[in-house]
Amino acid sequence: MNIVLLGAPGAGKGTQAAKLVEEFNTPHISTGDMLRAAVAAGTELGLKAKSYMDAGDLVPDDVIIGLVTERLQEPDTANGFILDGFPRTSPQAVALDAELSKLGRPLDAALLIDVDPEVIVNRLTSRRMCRACGYIGTEADGPTCPKCGGEMYQRDDDNEATVRNRLDVYEKSTSPLIDYYRGCELLVTIDGDRDPNVVYADVKEALNL
Ligand code: AP5
Ligand code: MG
Repeated sequence: MNIVLLGAPGAGKGTQAAKLVEEFNTPHISTGDMLRAAVAAGTELGLKAKSYMDAGDLVPDDVIIGLVTERLQEPDTANGFILDGFPRTSPQAVALDAELSKLGRPLDAALLIDVDPEVIVNRLTSRRMCRACGYIGTEADGPTCPKCGGEMYQRDDDNEATVRNRLDVYEKSTSPLIDYYRGCELLVTIDGDRDPNVVYADVKEALNL
């Protein structure tokens, strides 16, 4: 499967990707996770990205396109990949098309996980993640990860003001990709405001899995 997961912040892209990884072991390429790892490691990329991320703004296209292009060269992606949070601007989508056509590995689908913005503000301000294993949960999980016992933490960008800016940025810069992928006949829309396992059943059906 060569797929793109589209959807607003908090729509459940990471949650659905984790389910696909667990069942099919497909490489999960999340630009947000890659950037957070770079920030935590204090690399040059992390230093460049942090202020954009904390404000809920997009990191410049050239930085992100370079990151994903490099990742797609790695051999584990030859049999499939799940792109999560990329592309999120028109130049990123065009660059991805060019790279995949060079590699001879076209996209199979762009799955839009569709959730109302008001639902999202609540979801994101109560999201907690595991520092050790990356498990995505909620504040109801408490301070320790139910999967590995690691420390649960709140992302710096999961406060209400930043979430609202992320939603605005999504509307302005990323939502035009819905029409872009519809035009390529790759778009599949899935109602993401249901139990995550119900959403996942639809994801698999959409991908003929
Ligand atoms: P990124 O990490 O990609 O964040 P995002 O797009 O804002 O998306 P999220 O990770 O917040 O949400 P999600 O859809 O993965 O939801 P999740 O499954 O966690 O990007 C962060 C930042 O990095 C950007 O703001 C930008 O600065 C930068 N960046 C990244 N990529 C970039 C790019 N390509 N170009 C430029 N800049 C880039 O779920 C959320 C919560 O909801 C969880 O608590 C979960 O348990 C819960 N949940 C999930 N599904 C359900 C459900 N069905 N029902 C109820 N609750 C659910
Ligand atoms: Mg995510």
